[in-house]
Order: sequence, then C-alpha cells, then structure tokens
Amino acid sequence: MKELRTQVAIVGAGPAGLLLGQLLARDGIDNIVLEHRSREYVERRVRAGVIEFGIANLIEEAGAGERMRRDGLVHHGVEFRFERNSYRVPLSDLADGRAITVYGQQEVVKDLVALRLESGGPLLFDTEVTTLDGLTSDAPSVEGDGPEGPVRVICDYVAGCDGSFGVANRALPASSARRYERTYPFSWLGILAEASPSTEELIYCRHQNGFALYSMRSPTLSRLYLGVAPDERLEDWSDGRIWDELNARLATDEMPEIGQGPIVERGITAMRSIVIAPMRHGRLFLAGDAAHIVPPTGAKGMNLALADVRLLARTLAAALRDHDDSLLATYSSTCLERVWRGEEFSNYMTQMLHPNPSDEFENGVQMARLRQAVNSREAATVLARNYVDLNSL
Ligand code: FAD
Ligand code: DHB
Repeated sequence: MKELRTQVAIVGAGPAGLLLGQLLARDGIDNIVLEHRSREYVERRVRAGVIEFGIANLIEEAGAGERMRRDGLVHHGVEFRFERNSYRVPLSDLADGRAITVYGQQEVVKDLVALRLESGGPLLFDTEVTTLDGLTSDAPSVEGDGPEGPVRVICDYVAGCDGSFGVANRALPASSARRYERTYPFSWLGILAEASPSTEELIYCRHQNGFALYSMRSPTLSRLYLGVAPDERLEDWSDGRIWDELNARLATDEMPEIGQGPIVERGITAMRSIVIAPMRHGRLFLAGDAAHIVPPTGAKGMNLALADVRLLARTLAAALRDHDDSLLATYSSTCLERVWRGEEFSNYMTQMLHPNPSDEFENGVQMARLRQAVNSREAATVLARNYVDLNSL
C-alpha cells in the first residue's frame, strides 16, 4: 500500500473540501484531498446556484473569485409569485446594500480545482476513501482505493467533506452522535435549458399544482425547478410536459409564457433536513453536507458548507501553526448554532412555498405566511437578511 504523510487529510472534493484545501494551503498547512469521482464528474455536477454576499467575499479572499466576479450575476432583489401575481422583495434595500451572486456550483468547483492544480497541491481523483482509522489517537489515517491501487494517508487531522452519503459521518459512534432528520413529501425536478432567462431576478412561485422556481446561470442558460411528488419518475416527464407545467405555475398576466429552449440537463432530488451533532469525533471534523442537509428552497446548502470550512480552516491553522487548541473544542457548537439557523430558514421557505394537497388548514397558514413575507416590511427584512447573508450574520 502506498503511504503518504500530511497535516490534514480532506475527504471529498466538493465545494467544502476544495475550499478548505485552498484556505489551509494559503496558511501554510499541508493537506491532501481525496475524491471518489473523476475531475470531469465533479466539474459537471449541476447543483446550487446562489452564493451569499459574505460567502462570495470568502471565495474571493481565497483567491478563487476572478471568474465568479466577472461572470456571476449580481441580484439585488427576488420575486415571489402566487395567485398569478408577482411581488418583489428588494433584498439589497432591506439588507444594508448586500446582494447575492448567481453563479453555478460546478463553476465554483472548476475554479477551485484549477487553482489547486496550478499550485501543485495534491488532489487525488478517482480515489474512494473506505476507512478512517485512529481518530481518537494523535495519528489518524485515511485509507482508500485509487487508480494505482490502495493508498493510506497518515495525518494530524481528518476533514470529512464527503457529503451525506460518504464515510465520514458514519465514523461517528452512535453512542455519542445524534442525527436529527425530516423528510418532506415532495421532490424537485430540475432542468437546465438553453433559453435566455425571461426575467432578471429569481422567482419563487407557489401554485395550487405545486412549487416552481425560475433561476438562471447566464444570459443564455435558464435553470428551473418544479415541486413534484416524492416518487415521481423522470421518464414520465417529457420536455413538453415540463414546459407546460412550468408555464401553468409561473404564468402571470404580464408574463403569460416563459422562454423555452432545448433541455440540456435534468434530474430529480428528494428533499430532506438532516443535522448530525456533534460535528466532531476525536480528530475527525465534519463540514458541509457530511454534517447537515437542508431542503434546497432558500439556497443554503453550499453556503452553509463553505461557512463551515471558513471556521474549520481557522481552527486547524490555529492548532497546527500556532499550537492553540481552543477552537478545536468549540468548532462544532459554533457551527451548529449557524447550521440550525440555516435549517430554520430552509424549513420556513420550504413550508411556505409547497402546497399540501391533503391539508387545507396547512395551505391557509402557508398563504398567510407568504402574504406577510411580501407585504410586511419587518417580515421581508428578516427574509432578505437570511437570504442574502445568513452565514455571515
Ligand atoms: P458535496 O458537494 O456533496 O461534495 C462531497 C464530495 O465528496 C463529492 O465530490 C463526492 O464525490 C465525494 N465523496 C463522497 N464519498 C466519498 C468517499 N468515500 N471518498 C472520497 N470522496 C467521496 N446550495 C446552495 O447553497 N445554493 C443553492 O442554490 C443550492 N441549490 C441546490 C439545488 C439542488 C437541486 C441540490 C441537489 C442542491 C442544492 N444546494 C444548494 C446544495 C448544495 O449543492 C450542497 O449543499 C453542496 O454540494 C455541499 O457541498 P459539500 O462539499 O459539502 O458536499
Ligand atoms: C437555485 C437553487 C436553489 O435551491 C434556489 O433556492 C435558488 C436557485 C439555482 O440552482 O439557481
């Protein structure tokens, strides 16, 4: 078995693992990133699109912001639609001038991978981590299978950035870790279409048929989502049916039809909330989806993940460079306070915008919340601040 030695072994090259590697490298901390999938695969995985104000600054400070600042779309407001009417929440007016940046997660990943390879930092693709060992000793190790055979990385700390189905969260002993979970009775069908966006800002829509979201990636690419039944199959959705349903839900008198174009990517995602606590076991520290999942309404998943590694990089640099262990003890509780705020906001947005076909009382409450969110300056201010910068509040 090939043996390597580093200070921090990072499992997973999603946004969390890649940004952590970059932040640590800038602090002079050696690290190795191990990623199960290929470079092509991680760079093509279409997912999140909304980057909070403080998180965009973090990406820039890490040295990975050049393309995001050039090509990202800065939005100062967001639209809500219901009963064929549209209401704008002026995000920047309500949140001290701050704005969101619409820029695809896979573009963030591409920028971070390029930076890593340019600097010569080790990034092992096609390497599935199978075992985490010695986590409560002072020399933990990570074992995996790479293209050239098995590999073991001996290190001072392990960062579990491998998403909810990875190995890291399973290494937490059941006796000391708790898992808080909720599954929602719907999924999202998402498409990427070669169509010029019909609007300038994102639209969150509640319709009796279900939720819809209009987002975008560039002046020629639209990203749209439909709330569907949890057991819905992609095969049952022809292009025509997808566009008809999007039009039915999103239509208003001013915009009776949305711009259409060839669908270049599609997928169905189940919606869950998960929190794993504590986010640490011995020398293993969890970050991002490995520790928590939010339903995508509210666009918090990647932002929470990147905010975790902002603190984890500081924590590990303090321990390894300055021999200051104090942040190691508080990493989990500091993260979890913010993570629960993210869970609360994502749950609030999800509950407000997905009608429940079998509960008219619930629908009445949802409509009251939605009206309050767009008509009350106080309620809109809370929404705007959470939407624009929850992870840096
Ligand atoms: P991941 O991106 O899941 O990365 C984990 C990595 O670990 C992967 O590359 C995986 O291949 C690798 N891995 C797994 N197991 C192993 C192993 N055993 N060995 C080695 N490597 C392993 N978030 C937002 O902030 N804004 C949005 O607008 C938004 N929209 C979304 C829309 C959809 C449809 C979906 C599905 C998600 C959305 N999210 C959004 C959530 C966001 O995509 C995730 O929260 C984000 O990817 C988390 O990053 P991560 O690095 O923690 O995990
Ligand atoms: C996008 C995804 C989200 O989950 C969201 O709330 C807003 C936008 C997107 O992919 O663009």
